[in-house]
Amino acid sequence: MPRDRVQDLRELVASVAADNRDLLYRLQTPCLVAEGETIDENCRVASETALRLGVRIRPHAKAHKCSALLRRQLSLPGVEGVTCATALEAQTLAGLGFDDILIANEVIARGSRDALVAVAQTGAELTVAVDSRQGVGVIARVAESTRREVGVVVDINVGGGRCGVAPASDELWELAELAFATDGIRLEGIMGYTGQGNYLASRHERLRVAADVKSRLDLAASALRRRGLPVKTITGGSTGLFDCDQGLTEAQLGSYVLMEGRYGSVGLPFVPALFCAATVISRPRSDHAILDCGWKALSPEFGFPILPPGLDPVAFSDEHLRCRVTGTPPQVGDVLLVIPAHLDPTMNLHDRMVLFEAGRTLELTIDLRRRGSVLREEAIDPEPAIYRFDH
Ligand SMILES: Cc1ncc(COP(=O)(O)O)c(C=O)c1O
Repeated sequence: MPRDRVQDLRELVASVAADNRDLLYRLQTPCLVAEGETIDENCRVASETALRLGVRIRPHAKAHKCSALLRRQLSLPGVEGVTCATALEAQTLAGLGFDDILIANEVIARGSRDALVAVAQTGAELTVAVDSRQGVGVIARVAESTRREVGVVVDINVGGGRCGVAPASDELWELAELAFATDGIRLEGIMGYTGQGNYLASRHERLRVAADVKSRLDLAASALRRRGLPVKTITGGSTGLFDCDQGLTEAQLGSYVLMEGRYGSVGLPFVPALFCAATVISRPRSDHAILDCGWKALSPEFGFPILPPGLDPVAFSDEHLRCRVTGTPPQVGDVLLVIPAHLDPTMNLHDRMVLFEAGRTLELTIDLRRRGSVLREEAIDPEPAIYRFDH
């Protein structure tokens, strides 16, 4: 991480804490806290950029899993429809009245199909990413059993090496043709998500990754169009490449609203709006302080959170963050703020967050954070042989 940016964030977190001191001392920590004005400013920057680039933002709910924030995002021009990552999230969104939902991920598990059926039954427009015949088969069965049209986008591997078929492969057009020819399926277009441009500090490097993604998506789109197949939607994108041309019609931006320590350090024009309030619970040594925000409150895979000046993180455990004191020593009982290093999995650890703005505080439920496995006697029918791979 560039040191000066981290230093800026350390000062930011200290000043947000100072401005909201009274509120912090009323919280049961560890507790997520979000700042409304910064959220609105992040949303404004994204919306204006999208309008300028002629790309629609389809916000990704997986970043914060909070329907109230999603509605804020959707209130801006150029922001339409929602994205999510699982069938259960889609079901929850549809139940809350969101009526245009993209699942930007493959849905294959038998137990997940009922959730797709439930979404389709609400009348919401549902589109799902596929990269296999089995995936097309799942959507076909959902469409058949609900008698509702379901959209698909064929997922292209644009270099991220996760799901997706190769851009110029036979597999791509065979899959697209199968989807196009299947009753109840609307072939919407293609999807290409890559995470490899996300944390690049150099704009030059970000543009290079975006150009590479664009060339792969162009290749895929022209291969399908040459065969007379529709490519109305080209969906993908991420906060890291939000202002780079990837040839998209819609961008599934997630993190830009709340940001995080890692993204916040690369110099994008979005400012961290999410913090974790933590209490100093012990001073076991004169040069150490223990905060009550361990990795049950802050997801650790991108490392330690960003701390205010005067404290350096040393070790994480379940309920504790041990810090070295390098500045004014904190007292036991002091409440401070830290910036989570990685947003999505941190949100996934909490049920609520406190939003403060313009002198008021609101408690927001992280209501899309549903998970679970439900054993069913019989999910909807297995797919017919046409959708199975022969090998
Ligand atoms: C398929 C897909 N689209 C979009 C995003 C959003 O990325 P970001 O949070 O960087 O905006 C992600 C994040 O992991 C993703 O997996």
